[in-house]
Amino acid sequence: MKEFLSVKNLTKNYGDFCAVDDLSFSVHEGEIFGLLGPNGAGKSTTMNVITTLSDFGKGTITVDGADIIKDKEKARRLIGMVPQDIALYPFLSAEENVRFFASLYGLRGTKLNSAVKEALEFVGLSDKAKMKPKKMSGGMQRRLNIACGIAHDPKLIIMDEPTVGVDAQSREHILGSIKTLRDRGATVIYTSHYMNEVEDICDRILIIDHGKSVAVGTERELISTVSDSKVLKITTEIKSNFNEKDFLAEMSKLPDVKKARIEDGVIVLEINASAKDFTLYLEHIKSRGLPILGITSESMNLEDVFIALTGRELR
Ligand SMILES: Nc1ncnc2c1ncn2[C@@H]1O[C@H](COP(=O)(O)OP(=O)(O)OP(=O)(O)O)[C@@H](O)[C@H]1O
Ligand SMILES: [Mg+2]
Repeated sequence: MKEFLSVKNLTKNYGDFCAVDDLSFSVHEGEIFGLLGPNGAGKSTTMNVITTLSDFGKGTITVDGADIIKDKEKARRLIGMVPQDIALYPFLSAEENVRFFASLYGLRGTKLNSAVKEALEFVGLSDKAKMKPKKMSGGMQRRLNIACGIAHDPKLIIMDEPTVGVDAQSREHILGSIKTLRDRGATVIYTSHYMNEVEDICDRILIIDHGKSVAVGTERELISTVSDSKVLKITTEIKSNFNEKDFLAEMSKLPDVKKARIEDGVIVLEINASAKDFTLYLEHIKSRGLPILGITSESMNLEDVFIALTGRELR
C-alpha cells in the first residue's frame, strides 16, 4: 500500500502551550483515515498544519512525496480542505463561491466551468447555484463548504467535522459523498465527534489526546488492543446523596472487574472477556440499595477503546 501522507514528529506550540506533541502517522493512498479525539486534542491544529494554513515548530510532512515546506506549491495543489468553521462568502452565490475557491488552484475557462458544475452536482446543490449562503440552511452551507474544498479535484481531501449541525438526510448525503470520493481514488482525512460516523466510513483511525497519538489501526485492530475486555452495563437509579466514589472503588475490587464507572444512571463495568458469572456484581449492586432496571453486555466500541487507553471519555 502506497503511503500518501507522512507526518513525522510533528510538534506545534501556541506560545507555551503544546497543542501537537511529537505526533507521527501515515495515511495510505485511497483510504479514509479518521482522526478521533476529544475537544482540544489537536485534530484541527494537525489538519491546518498539513494544509499549510498554519506553521509548525518541528517535524516533517510530505504529501505524495512533496515536502510541505520545501515543495509547498506542489503539496498545496494536491490538497483540498473542508474547514471546521464554514468559510464562504455570504454575498457571492453558491456557484460564485465554488468558482472562487477552484480558481485559487489555477483552474480557468471551460475546465473551471465544468469543475464548478460537477462540485455543485456532487453535493446536491445544482438547483441552488444562484442562491447566496446567507439564505441557505446550515446543512446546505455545510454542503457548499464541501463543494468549495473539492472542486479542483484534490488527491488528498481533509475534512474537519463536515457534518456538524446538519440533518440526518444531509448527513447521509455527505457520508455517501465521502465514500464516493474515496472510491474514485481520493485519499481522505476525516474528523468527527460522531463515533458511529467514524466507525461507518473510516478505513483506519488514529486516536489522539493532548496532541499525542494514543493508538492507530482499523476499528477491529483498535478494539483488539483492549479486547481482553467486554462491557457490562447495568441500568439503575442513583439518589443524589449516594456515595458513588466508594461504591465504584468496591465494584473495582470484585473478581474480573477492570474498571467501573457511572454514566447517566448506568453502571458501566469493564470486565475480563472470559468472565461469565455476573451474579456477584448484581448482588453487590443490590446490597447497596440500588435497583437493577436493566442489563446489557456489549463488546467494545471506539469510545470504550479510548476510555480504556486514556482513562477519560471522548466527549
Ligand atoms: N490559535 C490558537 N491559539 C492558542 N491556542 C490554540 C489556538 N488554536 C487552538 N488552540 C489550542 O490548541 C489545542 C488544540 O486545539 P484544536 O482546535 O486543534 O483541537 P481539536 O482537536 O480540533 O478540538 P475540537 O474537537 O474542539 O475541534 C486546544 O487546547 C486549543 O485551545
Ligand atoms: Mg477541531
